[in-house]
Order: sequence, then structure tokens, then C-alpha cells
Amino acid sequence: MHTASCLVNLECAACNLPYASDRLQKLCSACGMPLLARYDLEKAARTLSRAALRTRRADLWRYEEVLPVQDDHFRLALGEGWTPLLKARFGARIGCPATYIKDESSNPTGSFKARGLCLAVSRAWELGASSIAIPSAGNAGSALAAYCAAAGIQAHVFIPQDAPPAFAAEARAYGARVELIEGLITDCARKVREGVERYGWFDVSTLKEPYRIEGKKTMGYELGEQLDWQLPDVIIYPTGGGTGLIGMWKAFAEMQQLGLIGGKRPRMVSVQAENCAPIVKAFHAGVDRAEPWANARTVADGLRVPSAIGDFLMLQVLRESHGTGVAVSDGEMIEYARVMAAGSGVFPGPEGAAAFAAQIRLLDSGWLKRDETVVLFNTGTPLKQILLWT
Ligand SMILES: Cc1ncc(COP(=O)(O)O)c(C=O)c1O
Repeated sequence: MHTASCLVNLECAACNLPYASDRLQKLCSACGMPLLARYDLEKAARTLSRAALRTRRADLWRYEEVLPVQDDHFRLALGEGWTPLLKARFGARIGCPATYIKDESSNPTGSFKARGLCLAVSRAWELGASSIAIPSAGNAGSALAAYCAAAGIQAHVFIPQDAPPAFAAEARAYGARVELIEGLITDCARKVREGVERYGWFDVSTLKEPYRIEGKKTMGYELGEQLDWQLPDVIIYPTGGGTGLIGMWKAFAEMQQLGLIGGKRPRMVSVQAENCAPIVKAFHAGVDRAEPWANARTVADGLRVPSAIGDFLMLQVLRESHGTGVAVSDGEMIEYARVMAAGSGVFPGPEGAAAFAAQIRLLDSGWLKRDETVVLFNTGTPLKQILLWT
């Protein structure tokens, strides 16, 4: 059956060149930049209303008008999205009582990566892909493997050799072919490119196809709904390739056009690791593109991204939102994970703990006011890296 998708076409995020959305697409052929999905939002607004949402299914497909899948046969669902937004008890203790945690660890395969890969695999399946490849710090590989298993598509996952072993074991259990690569995610990306040329795999690297970001944007829609359509003052997000930040920013623009929210936007904060902080550095240097980070090292696997194709989009989001960038140390991530767990009941991964550490810094510096509403994203479960805390 036809979904209510109001997808119209794709558009280059840098040069605005339009592209057809009825076939597999990669990057802009003119400038090599990412493509974004565009919808008929006037049409979508007729059915995607605050009232209609109250009775919809409890997963990310509740926003089907602004998602790309056309035939519901291809709508893969493993329970992704509609994750809890929890008021953190520690908020009162740190003097910022309206502190919330959006707990993404309850997604399939334990991280927010499920949202993006759910959409990317559903749409690639609908458009005829038969094998899909990804370079991954770990979580995206697990998520790709799970959705490919649900669709019956072969997944090829390339993970750095020193990533925690749980990621490769999990992806293999889902039937993915997993290769461990000496080096970083950028070296894994090279391997994917070779496979694309040699075997015709479809590459779902961050922002190199248009639909992962469509899954990530649903975090923005959910925040709106869960806060009764009053977006928070500040969102603190652990950033690698940047799809979370970029996706939510896209969601807020769509939501305003749909009449779901007004013009108020949160200040967006990018959190990175001290030894891999290309976006934070570029933001404070006032430049539009980030330099690749040499010798990237951090226990937060998801933040070990030395260079990102969407760097200019992340920097645009930080500037347009009057946000900022914060880099925190590995020691802080490990320590603050314990404090956050004991003070809220949510045990975060190192990336989520980094968001909490950044909140403390921003409170101390006065950038964050104590009466502001803040959402910290816990992007994934700590359990695949549990040895960090033993
Ligand atoms: C747990 C976790 N948090 C945050 C990130 C960073 O996400 P993004 O690359 O979309 O910025 C990742 C990416 O691998 C991750 O696995």
C-alpha cells in the first residue's frame, strides 16, 4: 500500500541542484556535496497535525508524510524511535533543574544509529539495492546489519580493528560480512569505496546517500512532541559525522513550515573529544570547513571521526543557532558517565557522558543559564564498551 510520504525530490545541500528521488542517488554530481530530501510540506500539513500525531504508532514511522518510503512493504520496523525523554534528577543538584535526557540507547542495536539506517536501508531496498556497505565506528555497522537482516539484503561492514569486539560480533550475528581494518573510520571508508567500484555495493556512509539523515531528523520531531511543542533552549549533542545535529536542524525548519512550531530554535552545542575535535576547533576559529584531525584518539568510538563531509553543514547549524562547540577529555567521559548514571538512572555511553560533561562546563562558564531548558542526548548504550568502567 502507498504510504502518506510527500517526498518530492532531492536537492544538493551546497549548490541546490535538484535530483530525482525515484532512483538510488549518492552525492551531487556537480559539486560532490550531500543531497537532502525535500517534501511537499503544504500537502503534508493537511494530515501531519499535532492532533493526528496523538493516535499514531509509537515509532519513527509516525512521521510518514515527511519520510521517503513510498510503499509500506518496504517500511522496515524493529522498534526504532519514540525513545524516552527523561527529566534528570541530577538537574536540581547541578542547579539546572530543567535538564532532560533523550535516551537513544533504547533503540534497536542500542544507539540512535538505528534511526538513520532504518530509513537508509528501507529506501535503498525499495529502490532495488541488493548489497549495502558502510564504514563504521561500530554502532552504525550493527544497525546496518540488523536492518539488512530484516530486509534480506547482504551487509558489508568495515570497522577499525581496535573497536570494542561487541560491535563486530553483533553485526556478524545479523549475517553481515565484517572486515576489521587497521586505522580509523576514514581508512574503512576507503575499503568501502573499493567495494563499491568492484562489486557495485550501495554505500550508506554518513551523508553519502540522502536518507540516513531523514531517520535522524525524527529526533527533532520527537523532542517537539515530547515537550508539548516548546523546543528546549539548548540541545547538547555528541558529534562525529554530524547527522544528529544536521538532521534535527532540518526537522525544525520542516516543523515550522508544517505549522507544528513557531520560529524559536534551540542553541545547538556540538560536543567532541579533546583528541578529535575538528568541528569544535573550526567553530572557534570562525572558519566554514574543518581541517582533518591528525592522530585522532578517544574512547568514544562514535566521536573518532577525523574529517566529515558534512562539516560545513554542522558549522552552519552551530552558527545559525547561536550555539557553540565543546571538547571534553576521555577521563571526563568515563567519570561523568558514573555521575550521570547514579544521578538519573540512565547509564550513558562515553558519547552521552560527554554531553553531560559539556553541560557542566557551559554552566560554569555562564554560557548556559541555570533556568534554561536543556536536552542532553545519550546517543548509545555503554554496554558494548563496559570494560571502560570495570
Ligand atoms: C554512540 C554514538 N554517539 C554519537 C555518534 C556521532 O554521531 P554522528 O556521526 O551522527 O555525529 C556516534 C557515531 O558513530 C555514536 O556511535
